[in-house]
Amino acid sequence: MTDTGPNAGRTHFGNREVGEDEKAGLVHGVFSSVASRYDLMNDLMSGGVHRLWKDAMMDWLAPRPGQRLLDVAGGTGDIAFRFLRRAPAATAVVCDMTEDMLTEGRRRADAEAFADRLDWVVGDAMALPFPDASFDTYTISFGIRNVTRIPEALSEAFRILKPGGRLMVLEFSRVPNDMMRAAYDAYSFAVIPRMGQAVTGDRDSYQYLVESIRQFPDQDTFAAMIRAAGFDQVKYRNLSMGIAALHSGWKL
Ligand SMILES: C[S@@+](CC[C@H](N)C(=O)[O-])C[C@H]1O[C@@H](n2cnc3c(N)ncnc32)[C@H](O)[C@@H]1O
Repeated sequence: MTDTGPNAGRTHFGNREVGEDEKAGLVHGVFSSVASRYDLMNDLMSGGVHRLWKDAMMDWLAPRPGQRLLDVAGGTGDIAFRFLRRAPAATAVVCDMTEDMLTEGRRRADAEAFADRLDWVVGDAMALPFPDASFDTYTISFGIRNVTRIPEALSEAFRILKPGGRLMVLEFSRVPNDMMRAAYDAYSFAVIPRMGQAVTGDRDSYQYLVESIRQFPDQDTFAAMIRAAGFDQVKYRNLSMGIAALHSGWKL
């Protein structure tokens, strides 16, 4: 349903309310600013755990030989590289709206190793530059919470998947246990923006990161959004007690 009330055309950028037309530019600014230190910061902030979460995504996805993957908001290529490593003769496209992130990805050793099976495309999750029914698998890892209108991104995922294709989303989620959540919030708000300042010289981008995590819908609400986009057999699995979650859905 279209919102025609006082919040029409408004959205969140972290804890700030902004116009929908402003958000993509602000998000682009964040990732252009941190691109050169993005991979290092992921390891520092999570103590390397983001690698385990991405491996868990691959375990559930179980890539098969010859499949074609679209990894949206693919940034520096972590998901596409993992997919190609596991599936002989598979191909992948990394699509991201921030060219600086793709540039960093193309510099990585895996990019060279998989050059003949991998493309890098600048594009928006809400208007993907690909034909209908052209991929077997759609992934988005730590990307969807940055998208201005999430239902539009999910509809695009549905459109570009072949019948029988699968969507998998890795995203920060909600820690159900109150005490654990309080400890996690305290760590995130106290440590991550300071770490961002020290490593990238950009505190604000990491303040945005921790705020945007709290704005994202919880596991069940997000699962309902995936169903509303047309996906079947929608299921999720919590990772690290719900700090992150994997959501899976099928286009049947
Ligand atoms: C936190 S990074 C995730 C990168 C990578 N997927 C990973 O898991 O490490 C988020 C990425 O989402 C991209 N992004 C944000 N909004 C987007 C949109 N509407 N369309 C395409 N990419 C978007 C950003 O440019 C950024 O590279």
